[in-house]
Amino acid sequence: MKPLDPRLVRRSRAVRRYLAASVAVGVATAVVVVAQAALLAWLIARGFEGRSATAALLTGVALCFTARAGLAWVHALLSERASVAVKSGLRDEVTAAVLDPRRVGDRPEASRVVGLLGPGLDALDPYFGKFLPQLVLTALVPATVVVAIATTDLLAAVTVAITLPLVVMFLVLVGKLTRDKVDRRYEALQRLGAHFGDVLDGLRVLKVHGRRQDAGLRKVGDQHRRESVKALRMAFLSGFVLELFSTICVALVAVSIGLRVVEGHMDLAPGLFVLLLAPEAFLPVRQMGAHFHASQEGVGAAADALDLLEYDRADGTATVPSVAGAPVVLDAVGVTRDGRDVPVLAPVTATIEPGSFVALTGPSGSGKSTLLDVLLGFLRPTTGRVMVGGVDLAGADPAAWRRQVAWVPQVPGLLRDSVAANVRLGAGDASDDDVARALADAGAPDLPLDRVLEDQGRDLSAGERRRVGIARALLAVRRGDARLVLMDEPTAGLDAAAEATVLRSLRDLGATVVVVAHHRDVVAAADTTIAVGGRQEVTVR
Ligand SMILES: Nc1ncnc2c1ncn2[C@@H]1O[C@H](COP(=O)(O)OP(=O)(O)O)[C@@H](O)[C@H]1O
Ligand SMILES: [Mg+2]
Repeated sequence: MKPLDPRLVRRSRAVRRYLAASVAVGVATAVVVVAQAALLAWLIARGFEGRSATAALLTGVALCFTARAGLAWVHALLSERASVAVKSGLRDEVTAAVLDPRRVGDRPEASRVVGLLGPGLDALDPYFGKFLPQLVLTALVPATVVVAIATTDLLAAVTVAITLPLVVMFLVLVGKLTRDKVDRRYEALQRLGAHFGDVLDGLRVLKVHGRRQDAGLRKVGDQHRRESVKALRMAFLSGFVLELFSTICVALVAVSIGLRVVEGHMDLAPGLFVLLLAPEAFLPVRQMGAHFHASQEGVGAAADALDLLEYDRADGTATVPSVAGAPVVLDAVGVTRDGRDVPVLAPVTATIEPGSFVALTGPSGSGKSTLLDVLLGFLRPTTGRVMVGGVDLAGADPAAWRRQVAWVPQVPGLLRDSVAANVRLGAGDASDDDVARALADAGAPDLPLDRVLEDQGRDLSAGERRRVGIARALLAVRRGDARLVLMDEPTAGLDAAAEATVLRSLRDLGATVVVVAHHRDVVAAADTTIAVGGRQEVTVR
């Protein structure tokens, strides 16, 4: 993990502005640190020599203290503001990226996105508030201090110049060592969230099978606790060693100066100046070390957010001819996935004629749903291409293409809205009569149009949900531009004969229908069968 992700600097103007302001504050701080030490040394040396302090000297020292406090306050304020700006910027961008209709590829896991948008990015506060300011000071103050010491005592300057890089190197080493621990802690947290979500989703299944999930949750929770304690232990240990090491370095300088002052080789004032300044060279590094661990979770979250922002986007603008008059040609369309040797969709070659009714068949896991994802433009084929009337779908404008498509997925994706609004999703201007007719044709004549559904239509039966999904497609074909109906096999057992009738009526409306089917009735009603995942290519009945 880099201390500062270059992607963040490139992407965020707030970060760049903050860095510039922070450097200005850092330079001022470095100057004040040196001035403060010089004035203090002078003041104390005068006291030892029995001379009283002048008003100017006292004012100077007071000014230095005030300026230092003021600069620290400004730095804190700037960091706070930068953190807020970056967090809200990333939240906006991640939301937009996840919702982008042109996004191609797998949809990011809900728990990951929710975790990131919530507490994940909040972990940037300690990073911006504590770590980054110290990083800037570390880059500026020690070098200035070493130069200032060198003007007075070369030996001390050399001692600091040699030991300081050792401390920094040590810090980097500790950072590398702890990185995995912090990563694992973040992963464990994510896993805990995802696992809890899964348990809640599957609570009823688990109940029926007599499984109590407390033990499993406790295990994942324990794992998170263990990773946290490990990370904490590492943080305390490395903090301790860092402090010890820099204290020894300062002691080295102090002993050499003390001996020289006692033996009369050095005056008190320059000796005090160097002595006051030496710890200042180590201070920002030590503080950075102290805040390093607290800030790493934020760095991880930011990296995760930036990963989500780098996605494959379908930027094509080509207009696809209407499927009503153009065939959809699958030209050796195949999909492979990273980390899997076997393709998730073995190359399929077939021609889907306008107005035909095609059944996609193949064993579970052979890639039927994946092929529909490709046709919808959610996934890019890894090999081959989909051509619609001579236009490659890869270069097509996805929004315009999807207006031609009516999709009935396995899970219909119902919104918390009225039945009518859910059916009307693809044809906003349809009248209530049209909606009612579509519902009746889909086999759900008794569903009241104004009934408001819960999220995902949880308060409907599986069959009713399916029928609302089919009604949606029917309406989109009747009222809208939808010319290609893509239907995935229903998850729940349904009246396949009734569904085949609906599909045939869709085809009679002039739509091209591609349906993933297992049921004999549906396959028998189709004009063509495309076998997915097999060696055979196209079977025409
Ligand atoms: N998001 C995903 N990540 C990784 N593998 C996936 C994903 N979705 C599906 N797969 C894999 O792709 C293969 C084909 O899946 P799918 O198209 O859903 O099959 P089918 O619909 O024919 O049952 C399966 O082996 C499945 O495990
Ligand atoms: Mg499937």
